[in-house]
Amino acid sequence: MAQTRGQFSSKIGFLLAAAGSAVGLGNIWGFPTQAASNGGGAFLLVYLVLAFVLAYPALMAELTIGRYARANVITALESLSEKPGLRRAGWLSGSAAVAVAIFILSFYAIVAGWMLSEFLSPLAAQLGAGATESWLDSAGFARNALVCAIMSGLTIAIIARGVEKGIEAWSTRLMPLLFAILLGLIIYVLTQAGAGRGLAAYLIPTPSQLLDPQLILSALGQAFFSLSLGVGTMLIYGSYLRDTDNLPRMGVSVTLLDTGFAFTAGLLILPAIYVADARGIAVFNDTGGLIAGPDLIFQVLPALFDTMGSAGAWVAIAFFALMSIAALTSAISLLEVPVSVCVERWKISRPRAACLSGGAIFAISLLIIWQFEALFNTVITVTTVYGQPLLGVALCVFAGWVMQRNQLLNELSKGHPEIEKTVFWKIWPFYVRFICPALILLTFVQSLR
Ligand code: PHE
Repeated sequence: MAQTRGQFSSKIGFLLAAAGSAVGLGNIWGFPTQAASNGGGAFLLVYLVLAFVLAYPALMAELTIGRYARANVITALESLSEKPGLRRAGWLSGSAAVAVAIFILSFYAIVAGWMLSEFLSPLAAQLGAGATESWLDSAGFARNALVCAIMSGLTIAIIARGVEKGIEAWSTRLMPLLFAILLGLIIYVLTQAGAGRGLAAYLIPTPSQLLDPQLILSALGQAFFSLSLGVGTMLIYGSYLRDTDNLPRMGVSVTLLDTGFAFTAGLLILPAIYVADARGIAVFNDTGGLIAGPDLIFQVLPALFDTMGSAGAWVAIAFFALMSIAALTSAISLLEVPVSVCVERWKISRPRAACLSGGAIFAISLLIIWQFEALFNTVITVTTVYGQPLLGVALCVFAGWVMQRNQLLNELSKGHPEIEKTVFWKIWPFYVRFICPALILLTFVQSLR
């Protein structure tokens, strides 16, 4: 079977694909808005520490299991042990990961669709299509369903083409474009009045906030969501890595790219918030807190772009193109989770598997759009607040307790023969066995209170 499986053709291809998965709405929207409403600099610092100290070891667990087992998440976790009890636990955890990936994608595709309509609406205005513009701004069921359908269709089309021609080729095209747009926007926003205050709020931590449990909790959740952990995405991408690739180094690069992107996105969003404030746009609510969540992106930023005269429309188009691209490269990594299961376990052809899984997930998205009030936030909470951390613990336990130390060593030595002598090997196996599960559980229990 090994020969028929897809594989990334180069290191850079894997890096861009994994970074494409990791860098998404979580970085460009989630991280900066969380930072803005949690004390700016303090949140940034705690987030960076947690990303390397806790999320990186968990990412390594996924990449190592994936490449060792060379299979989708269910088969991979099942195959780690011969014992029937552990195999059943592997099957259960793998299936739960697939379910969580499916539900994350079902809401992610809706938000991705909103980004697309924010991108298309000023474009329609520029082209003089006023009726299309107001329909795109209408936020009705039909509009939400259509833009979600377009994003889901693009995701399915890329995944149907496979690992090298689909995931790798498109991530390699889209990620540099994403970064270029981001840099262009930062340069523009930093030249506007008010930007300096935003930079200061973002970069200078308030020491007293650093140990705030609520802040630590949000930063950890953010780090896990941002690195696409706990749903088997990184596991399946790891399974497409070549044996010659050095896993710890790949993991570090992905973590650096992801946190680097989040950091850079903060350089755009926080100054933009203060630029908006300087222009008299309401960015703070009655209690003095920052308008967070969807309102910030969908009201404050477009209002800011509106004050920028004729350049504003193009800035808006560039910004929401950025968001749509970031969302797309993450969405494909989510769809790969169920598709790899269909292909490998049920022997369905990849294009069919992509259409079937993508179609089913789109049906769930439609249901959420239809029953928005009841379902949208619930699905997000169940998957990202409960599902991801708990499955993150499960994956660490599989790497740390079910896999034998020498299995781990063998796998990691493949691309790094000297691994035994490294600091990584001295710390990581212990870390992933004890520290990661304990700390994730601790944060999880805290979040329930
Ligand atoms: N990491 C992505 C983001 O930051 C979201 C994601 C979560 C993607 C889980 C895949 C799996 O937007």
